[in-house]
Amino acid sequence: MCGIVGIVGNAPVAPLIVDALKRLEYRGYDSAGVATIEAGALSRRRAEGKLVNLENRLKDKPLGGKIGIGHTRWATHGVPNEINAHPHFSRDVAIVHNGIIENFAELRAELIAAGFEFSSQTDTEVVAHLVTRGLDNGLTPVEAAHAAIRRLQGAFALAIMFRGDDNLLIGARNGPPLAVGHGDGEMYLGSDAIALAPFTDSITYLEDGDWVVVRRNEMQIFDAAGKPVERRRQKSIGTSFLVDKGNHRHFMEKEIHEQPEVISHTLAHYLDFTTSRVNDHPLPFSFAELDRLAISACGTAYLAGLIGKYWFERYARLPVDIDIASEFRYREMPLTKKSAALFVSQSGETADTLASLRYCRREGVPIAAIVNVRESTIARESDGVFPTLAGPEIGVASTKAFTCQLSVLAALAVRAAVERGHLSEADEQRLVRELSEAPRFASQVLKLDEQIAKVARELSQVSHVLYLGRDTSYPLAMEGALKLKEISYIHAEGYAAGELKHGPIALIDETMPVIVIAPHDRIFDKTVSNMQEVAARGGRIILITDAEGAARSTVDAVETIVLPEMPEIIMPIVYALPVQLLAYHTAVFMGTDVDQPRNLAKSVTVE
Ligand code: G6P
Repeated sequence: MCGIVGIVGNAPVAPLIVDALKRLEYRGYDSAGVATIEAGALSRRRAEGKLVNLENRLKDKPLGGKIGIGHTRWATHGVPNEINAHPHFSRDVAIVHNGIIENFAELRAELIAAGFEFSSQTDTEVVAHLVTRGLDNGLTPVEAAHAAIRRLQGAFALAIMFRGDDNLLIGARNGPPLAVGHGDGEMYLGSDAIALAPFTDSITYLEDGDWVVVRRNEMQIFDAAGKPVERRRQKSIGTSFLVDKGNHRHFMEKEIHEQPEVISHTLAHYLDFTTSRVNDHPLPFSFAELDRLAISACGTAYLAGLIGKYWFERYARLPVDIDIASEFRYREMPLTKKSAALFVSQSGETADTLASLRYCRREGVPIAAIVNVRESTIARESDGVFPTLAGPEIGVASTKAFTCQLSVLAALAVRAAVERGHLSEADEQRLVRELSEAPRFASQVLKLDEQIAKVARELSQVSHVLYLGRDTSYPLAMEGALKLKEISYIHAEGYAAGELKHGPIALIDETMPVIVIAPHDRIFDKTVSNMQEVAARGGRIILITDAEGAARSTVDAVETIVLPEMPEIIMPIVYALPVQLLAYHTAVFMGTDVDQPRNLAKSVTVE
């Protein structure tokens, strides 16, 4: 989603803003722009498409000025062209915005009636004109900004700049994140700490309803009512990571290959490998006292939660309700006193997941979250946080965050099983030892890269793919299909293998590759029967299994990817890797923009 940067500095800021915007590229965007105050006038450069287009504009016509705002836009209202790109101007006011102003139609009509002219189709432009109207009515810039913000409904992070005051930026937050960066005689605004990393690691996060007046040597945060408030200044941990591709072609490839290491870090956070026991990471509830757990998330994080459901129910006998967050937030699910809620989110900022969390808060149940970004809103609003130690994930398609989410869920399921009395000490130790083997198996699977790339070359020739699996391989089949759709734009569906005959079997013919995820597990033979049904109709099977499965399968697969034999509990974690590599290589063959696929955003801060 959109990214925001603002700098009130001491040197020309346009190149610095572009540099910061590059660090926000991973969020997904389709146009970009920067504005500064140069020789007392507002100036801007904007461009459709990637930041390189904006850089070329700036090369042709550089922008001076020591104060500026910049933006990467993920289109919501209005097509992604230059006119709709931010910053938007209204006479002396320049503004960038992330989110959706829900009452924009009403405000736009009101402003048009008052004589304002609109040059874009965006909801953002109403904010710029609202501020101008305040100035016209004699308000100071700060008062005019506050008056405008008070009129807004919906989700927004804003940065506002005024011609006539090159020592003033105003930021506001209601929903999407916004952080203030503290420099030495310079101050910054940014959507996250990663954007501000080259400038400072000293960060203050705004809370919902906050707005801030930023000048070179000071800043003051106010709450929605206009009362000054103090927010904690913290050292960002995000900045300690080097965010580059290393020797890899894409961030996604790098992140796939980082998995053995980050899975290991994450597991070590929850498991004690010396005693082979789960550790006592603080919980906001007691698993022993729960009669239900409600899990809610979006996208890949939802599919991690779905695999978690199998584990919690199997090992801990704890019933789990799992929902896509955009459904959960409106479906008015009754939560009993003995329920707890668990949210899964890489970014910790996904609007629907956050809204679901707030629903649960109103229902009065304890709230826990598995998040990758420790300073995120979801982390801050939860009673208990289970961090994934994946490090910054830049590729839009989630890979290492997913397997780290799975690692936390598996460790929590074992802990729940222990606390609920369903696991002997010996079984707990066996499961913990088995989990500790996940990084080693993940490393072995990465060595299959070449064979997987060969299969991907075939996939890049087709238009449709079916993914099948049973048990925990079913959510993984959905994840495989999602990954293919996201980055290669091939239409793919993930189905429970047993459900095949209730519809998707009609799609099967000689042109349809069917990827079957079937480790030799307790229901392997059932999956083989489903493969027979595919083979009988001429479908081309690509089988992902282990040596035992390959030997026992009675079906001719066009390709078999053979993984090492491994314990059942780590199968979804390790089998995720070939699934990710298949999508990755297919996308590379297709020549798509792997790290920033079209239309997608990394952090979805709107509904
Ligand atoms: C977007 C991303 C997905 C991600 C989903 C949920 O759609 O492209 O990769 O799984 O949001 O994001 P979250 O940050 O909550 O895990």
